Amino acid sequence: MKTPLLITAWLLFGGIASAPAENPAAPAGPTPAPPASTPPVSLEKAMKKLAGAYKELASDLQSPQDAEKADYLTLAATIKEAADQSGAFDPKAIQVLPPEQQAAFVADYKKALVAFDAKVDVLTQALTAGDWPAARQAMEGLKEAMKAGHHTYMKAKDGTVGWTPQAPSPASTSAASTPPAG
Ligand code: HEM
Repeated sequence: MKTPLLITAWLLFGGIASAPAENPAAPAGPTPAPPASTPPVSLEKAMKKLAGAYKELASDLQSPQDAEKADYLTLAATIKEAADQSGAFDPKAIQVLPPEQQAAFVADYKKALVAFDAKVDVLTQALTAGDWPAARQAMEGLKEAMKAGHHTYMKAKDGTVGWTPQAPSPASTSAASTPPAG
């Protein structure tokens, strides 16, 4: 009689003891946010996508072929899509700015991307028309926008950022720090 009892006790104990091991994910506290809420890409990835399409198109336009027009338009669309996706992220340079300047920085950054988008539209029109010199010129326009965008919104190696806030006049600055009485 003793042996079956021991076996039952052993099985019971083993079963209970193994239960947590088989279900280690049992929540012990608040459930973390689901990964579905995280953005699909980072700014770096969006920029890399943009750069890849830009380089390929720049190279193609050195000796353009009418038959390849659809491919060029696809690359231009990729550039535009990547620029649009870039607007969903804050550049890292935001971290070096005081909190009160960060919203203006992001607003200017987004405006610069909208301006960039308009330049991509010019490129698309030139490609559609098969006007290769105009397309190459539009690509130069994108390059200039890139230089300006990186200078202004990308954190430099020394940790600085080119962006500066629209300087308020000295009068309004002092008014902000010491509000006039009455
Ligand atoms: C032809 C146009 C452009 C190209 C080819 C380009 C390419 C790149 C590349 C390769 C990177 C580095 C990505 C990495 O971290 O590995 C980068 C970063 C960056 N780009 Fe552009 N870019 C272009 C236009 C722009 C424009 C118009 C803006 C702003 C309006 C901009 C803002 C930035 C910023 C802020 C970063 C740093 C990423 C961060 O802070 O997280 N870029 N870009």
